[in-house]
Amino acid sequence: MRSNYCGRLNIKNINEKVKLYGWVHNIRILKKIIFLDLRDYTGIVQCFVKKKQNNIWNLVISLTIESCIKIYGKIFKKKSFKNQLDLIEIYIYDLIIYNYSSSLPININSNNSEKIRFKYRYLDLRRLCMFKMLKIRSKIKYLLHNFLYKYNFLDIETPYLSKSFPEGAKDYIVPSRIYKGMHYSLPQSPQIFKQLLMISGVEKYYQIVKCFRDEDLRSDRQPEFTQIDIELSFSNFKNLKYLIEKIITKIFLIYKKIDLSNSFNLLDYKYVIDNYGTDKPDLRNPIKFNKNISNFFKDFFLKEIGKKLYVLSIVLLVNIDNNINYYNKIISYLKLYNIYNLIFIKIISFKNNKFLYKIYGDILNLNNNVIQKFILKFNLGVGDIFFLMLFKKKLLTECLVQIRSFFCNLFNLFKKNGYFPVWIVNYPMFYFDKYNKIKTFHHPFTMPINFNNYSNYTNILSHAYDLVINGYEIGSGSVRIHDYNLQCEIFKILSISTTKNSRYSFFLEALKYGAPPHLGIALGLDRIIMLLTNIKSIKDVIAFPKTTSGFCLLTNSPN
Ligand code: AMO
Repeated sequence: MRSNYCGRLNIKNINEKVKLYGWVHNIRILKKIIFLDLRDYTGIVQCFVKKKQNNIWNLVISLTIESCIKIYGKIFKKKSFKNQLDLIEIYIYDLIIYNYSSSLPININSNNSEKIRFKYRYLDLRRLCMFKMLKIRSKIKYLLHNFLYKYNFLDIETPYLSKSFPEGAKDYIVPSRIYKGMHYSLPQSPQIFKQLLMISGVEKYYQIVKCFRDEDLRSDRQPEFTQIDIELSFSNFKNLKYLIEKIITKIFLIYKKIDLSNSFNLLDYKYVIDNYGTDKPDLRNPIKFNKNISNFFKDFFLKEIGKKLYVLSIVLLVNIDNNINYYNKIISYLKLYNIYNLIFIKIISFKNNKFLYKIYGDILNLNNNVIQKFILKFNLGVGDIFFLMLFKKKLLTECLVQIRSFFCNLFNLFKKNGYFPVWIVNYPMFYFDKYNKIKTFHHPFTMPINFNNYSNYTNILSHAYDLVINGYEIGSGSVRIHDYNLQCEIFKILSISTTKNSRYSFFLEALKYGAPPHLGIALGLDRIIMLLTNIKSIKDVIAFPKTTSGFCLLTNSPN
């Protein structure tokens, strides 16, 4: 057994004898002394042998980097040291070599290509930064288990081999050996099962569970990822929100020393779409699109030029010195998006009941009267600057996010060190996809809010909620339908069969046996770790990730 860990030794251990296990991180051979850095998962410690220790010297000389060894040594204070954490070194008086390492295909001390890192993931994971991530991940899971247990939640496993219950992606399929030609689907989430558990009378369920989705991957998406899945009966959004905020606050307090307890915002879906162009707003960026101003100008331009166009407007409260310079930068950036026109107006002063302003850009038919009226109508003031951007085509969400981000970076407005959690609520229940097929925004088990109005499905809102932090969707959930007839209605609207032996017939039947009111949420564990570690790619917070094309370079699968 080891007596200590490399990273845990300090000045208090001086003169102690130690037995350490680890890997040779580095060797420096000098004339009369060899320095060997020994590494285990806690850190690195410097060890040394002297020329006069004949046998040990020869053993150490034979070592290769990353060989696995055991040392017996004594701790001394270093004669010279770089910092307070680096005060000791270990005199090696005996050594056992478990295994020499072949020359490494990967550099443990610096960056390597993704291809190499994933192919040799077991070596990539030897890097201390990767250990640190694995440790945080493990501790957070432990904390979550403890926390939810204290709140009387039961940790219940649900099947991986089951039926296809799509959640917006394609399924991973497992062929059955016994039932020839038939298959199981791996779960995209435990949604149906956790609802069935509520019907079983389990009042508080949770599970830290793998989910599998065959979909286009992004920097925050993996084909198999981990959810903290939660469901509870006889409760409401207020209670669930309180619970989740408490969990997130606790995690951030412990791992970031940041208190988020009063930072949770709550915004309407419509508000965030109008102001940020997305339902995953990164609120570190304070810029908003001013929907009302856009509409004002849209009406005006439509009347004046009669062409179909889309208007975006941004009002800034920053002092810009070199207007022309910014203007040109913005123009060349917006060309990417097929800009029709850019107008940039800065309000200079207010004299004799009139605003004085500077305008850049092709002002079309904007005359002084319109501008004065507009400044008054929207309560703008001296120093404000507004940008009107006219586009020929409606911009996609990604473009709006990028334009907001461009303006934010250009004017240096990004709040680098903050976390801005926001609940998004009042989502539409339905939308029409590009084939004009009606779909649900969340899943078909979500409770509608105003379901009496059948005339326009897109006006119906739902009891769904997402939790977004710094532009990442951290969690998503909803109040569920617990009424058989309502669930049938929603299925019918979505053209999901409700007949006997259809995909969900067993679930519909379950709703008939006294289903309790219930609601739930699933948090993305990987994304939470990304936020805590400031790691930008989900692949770096998972021990054995897949490439963006869903391939495992380590095992060469699928095969
Ligand atoms: P949803 O599909 O929104 O909801 O997923 C919940 C949360 O899981 C995370 N997530 C992912 N993380 C990494 N890679 C992915 N491919 C991926 N997909 C989703 C996100 C997301 O917010 N059954 C519902 C939850 C419920 O209604 O209770 C569900 O799965 O952080």
